[in-house]
Amino acid sequence: MIDWHCHILPAIDDGPETLAESVEMARLLAAVGFRRVHCTPHCMLGRFDNRPSQVQRATAELQRELRRAGIPLLLSPGMEYSLDEYFPVLLEQPQPLGNSQLLLVEVPSQAATELVRENVRLIIQRGLIPLLAHPERSVLLHRDESFQQRRSFTGLIRRLLARRADPALPDGSMPGLLLQDELQGMGCLFQGNLLSFSGRYGRQVQQRAFVNLDQGLYACFGSDGHGAESLEAGLLPALQALTDHQQGADTLGRVALRPGSFLIN
Ligand SMILES: [Fe+2]
Repeated sequence: MIDWHCHILPAIDDGPETLAESVEMARLLAAVGFRRVHCTPHCMLGRFDNRPSQVQRATAELQRELRRAGIPLLLSPGMEYSLDEYFPVLLEQPQPLGNSQLLLVEVPSQAATELVRENVRLIIQRGLIPLLAHPERSVLLHRDESFQQRRSFTGLIRRLLARRADPALPDGSMPGLLLQDELQGMGCLFQGNLLSFSGRYGRQVQQRAFVNLDQGLYACFGSDGHGAESLEAGLLPALQALTDHQQGADTLGRVALRPGSFLIN
């Protein structure tokens, strides 16, 4: 199995703080059957100012450490970009996933839809393929649901956030999943978070993840691991939840390794 999204590099974002914890994460991933991991620290101007050369260096260093520790895991450099207003600057020197054309991106919860569309257009114009991280967790892609929670406090907050993100949004409209369809039509691929299937992010995210899985939305999966403790607690239940689900384990293997979909490097 391939982990397409993992914050495994030490002291570079909000992932592990030490090399020892990175090695422990690698040990856990290898133990449940992963053989390749794309190292994808956050890249957000002003918050996580990571650059490709830095990530490549950190990936090589961790790979050397894994070899020393006898952990059979191949690492590739990557990045998780935020599709915010600073993204076009970062796209001038992109860091795709390994040798592939895939660029891992996430949708900021308060972004305007037009900004997301425009950033996706820029990625495609550059000849790269946008791989949208964990759509099941994206507020922007599911804000239609918030309109169904009119009477709850959470619903009120989510409606306010959605309106702030796009002031032109008429109350009662359902643009979230339409945006997801549109992005897919533009050429976006989607990566599911493994821990979404075990309910780590709540029941609603879990339900969306299974709906997406059944609809064949996901091109690949990732742990989105940020530390050894959460990986240890979440990985096995997530894989078990997928195994228990109809076609779960089969889908995981088949989709991640589908020939022609990705450059398995
Ligand atoms: Fe992430």
